[in-house]
Amino acid sequence: MRFGHFDDKNREYVITTPKTPYPWINYLGTESFFGLVSHLGGGYCFYRDARLRRLTRYRYNNVPVDNGGRYYYVVDGSDYWSPTFMPVKRPLDRFECRHGLGYTRITGERNGVTAEVLYFVPLGETCEVHQVTLKNQSSQKKTLTLFSFVEFCLWNAWDDMTNFQRNFSTGEVEIEGSTIYHKTEYRERRNHFAFFHVNQPLLGFDTDRETFLGTYNGFGEPEVVAQGKPRNSVASGWHPIGSHAITVELEPGAEKQLVFVLGYVENPKEEKWERPGVINKRRAHQLIERFSTPEAVARAFGKLQEHWQGLLSSYQVKSPDEKLDRMVNIWNQYQCMVTFNMSRSASYFESGIGRGMGFRDSNQDLLGFVHLVPERARERILDIAATQCPDGSAYHQYQPLTKRGNHDIGSGFNDDPLWLILGVAAYIKETGDVAILDENVPFDNDPNDTATLLEHCKRSFDHVLNNLGPHGLPLIGRADWNDCLNLNCFSETPDESYQTTQNRTGRTAESVFIAGMFVHIGPEYAALCERKGLAEEAARARAEVAKMEKVVLEHGWDGAWFLRAYDFFGNKVGSNECEDGKIFIEPQGFCVMAGIGVKTGEAVKALDSVKERLDTRYGIVLQNPAYKEYHVELGEISSYPPGYKENAGIFCHNNPWVAIAETVVGRPERAFEYYKKIAPAYLEEISEIHRLEPYVYAQMIAGKDAVRHGEAKNSWLTGTAAWNFVAVSQYLLGVRPEWDGLVVKPCLPKEFGEFTVERRCRGATYVIHVKNSGGTTPSLKVDGKPIPGHVVPYQPAGSRVVVECTT
Ligand code: BGC
Ligand code: NOJ
Repeated sequence: MRFGHFDDKNREYVITTPKTPYPWINYLGTESFFGLVSHLGGGYCFYRDARLRRLTRYRYNNVPVDNGGRYYYVVDGSDYWSPTFMPVKRPLDRFECRHGLGYTRITGERNGVTAEVLYFVPLGETCEVHQVTLKNQSSQKKTLTLFSFVEFCLWNAWDDMTNFQRNFSTGEVEIEGSTIYHKTEYRERRNHFAFFHVNQPLLGFDTDRETFLGTYNGFGEPEVVAQGKPRNSVASGWHPIGSHAITVELEPGAEKQLVFVLGYVENPKEEKWERPGVINKRRAHQLIERFSTPEAVARAFGKLQEHWQGLLSSYQVKSPDEKLDRMVNIWNQYQCMVTFNMSRSASYFESGIGRGMGFRDSNQDLLGFVHLVPERARERILDIAATQCPDGSAYHQYQPLTKRGNHDIGSGFNDDPLWLILGVAAYIKETGDVAILDENVPFDNDPNDTATLLEHCKRSFDHVLNNLGPHGLPLIGRADWNDCLNLNCFSETPDESYQTTQNRTGRTAESVFIAGMFVHIGPEYAALCERKGLAEEAARARAEVAKMEKVVLEHGWDGAWFLRAYDFFGNKVGSNECEDGKIFIEPQGFCVMAGIGVKTGEAVKALDSVKERLDTRYGIVLQNPAYKEYHVELGEISSYPPGYKENAGIFCHNNPWVAIAETVVGRPERAFEYYKKIAPAYLEEISEIHRLEPYVYAQMIAGKDAVRHGEAKNSWLTGTAAWNFVAVSQYLLGVRPEWDGLVVKPCLPKEFGEFTVERRCRGATYVIHVKNSGGTTPSLKVDGKPIPGHVVPYQPAGSRVVVECTT
């Protein structure tokens, strides 16, 4: 069942009923000011940091779901309603929500009145614009009252939801004309405030929540709205809100546009006050002035659309499969940009107060956005590398505001260091900017301990070699990619976090997955060395990689698939000998991507075992059979009920590894089948089962052992976005920047048909026509001339070349 449809021309998903299975959201903002907005107008916004600078309040885990947003109420005679359906929930004659790139437009119609709200964050600004358009479609004159509503968060979102004994006494506002200023804590250490403005004279306003709603009412039944009369309340403590009341008279057929601006302003400390107790509003006035007319809004909106048009034009495909096209051209790239901005901080599943930026997460996200914003990718790499420790290990997370490693979680996730090499290699392949390797970057942000970025990569590489276990495989540490395979944790205490608790020291638990990573990513390190003329170091690296490959085949092969690990006691994990958790997806994907066993047959065997034991109609589960009981020696993985999360859920992040692996062994049918199983556009028809947005990936879909097989959770902020973009753009469609040129080597079934990719890289444009007959060793012509191999040499910036590829 569908709840809307794709509008590819406008790059929108159009939701046609308020009653989706779960709130389907979108993101506003591209630089420093961000908002989350659901199809019902729910969500919140923040400046840079969703925990420390939250402008509006949102209630996670509330009843009903999606509680808190930027709401509008239309009072029409004795009737009142919300164009976003929530919070009033009065039935609408028509409802439509269009989620687009960086904006959302929601329209509701009732009794001959149409109200449309366009939400977006203009480029370069620290505000949301809400443009409300009211239209009288009836044959009578209408006199309406429009009420706006936002509830302010007292800035620190964690404090805001816990420290009520203080918070109920701190709230402060100022009102000036049609602008409501939220200035809680401004009198002390905060030099920032928020404001909510409308470009119209007011009938009145309210800034105190209790006055507006009534003590025992929810957002859906505000007393003020029900009575149609603002009370001009001035908040003092309790819960500051911003609500404007505006009278709108509309002749039949007439319409009126109102521009609301919800903004954030920082003042230099010396310029905080206009006079004692009165905030200096100069910067707010300027910002308000910039959006005082619908024309100004239209201009800013146009710029936002151009911005996205420009970004997305670096990779565009035209194929016979419209679902693939809309994923590749629009939604997958868009999601990659959202993960760039948010990492894993703020979504409808991440509260914005928990995890900061993940070391491994951000390096992987980079694979999906490096072609879109290469300069910002450069900065990101340097930030990440600065949280590496001198011994090559890395803080698992760092805070976006301070860019410092997070001490609570610390280091010890032994896969982390290798992801840095992968990110750096991807960046240089995309840009050719080898000079980044010479950048001086601190260890642990200590300006007195710095080294080149290349040296950071060396320490990453050597960190693996310095931490080998009894079989010569890498030690797992706290965990590897699978945060929940905690082989040294042995936690028996409820409430203790698997992620942060003290681990046993022991140098036995080994990860075949990190070994696969080492074989896959190690050669990238060697290539970096070669770029710098360090032939000897490159040779050393390649020799170590070759050694590891042997170790994997000797101690990491279980007969029909790759083992997952050896536990603390040296027992096998992910072996046919195990009762549960006999086979895991991660080492199969990564070892085959690395090329292990491709020539000797293990690779194909491993992938066939994946097909046989892990594949389901909704995607590939993480392992099988699911753990039925808690295993203290395995940790969090066995804490989940069977079929959810790492305990045999379909953990979408690693499905594309298998799809890529299938291309490595030259099986396009399987690769494409795996791609389609979890790509959201292909799941649109089963939205009632999948339940989350059909335009973005979710982290997890419940596996075959789960009660709710096929149901997705945790949409938006997941490494799934980047890896699927890599899989589809670089391996299925087959266009991939390498060291010396653009590889063109598609791997898609014959039935897929012909297609064209337009790829911008290093300033040149490559128009690649693929005559696809399902083969995997294509022949290429560049501007009509045949070339040997699969690599189109990089062309000068500004040039446009035509590549013909026949498979
Ligand atoms: C989740 C993982 C996540 C980890 C870190 C675990 O509970 O299952 O997917 O990476 O927490 O927050
Ligand atoms: C989510 C984390 O963000 C990611 O880093 C990890 O690899 C997966 N969980 C698997 O546990």
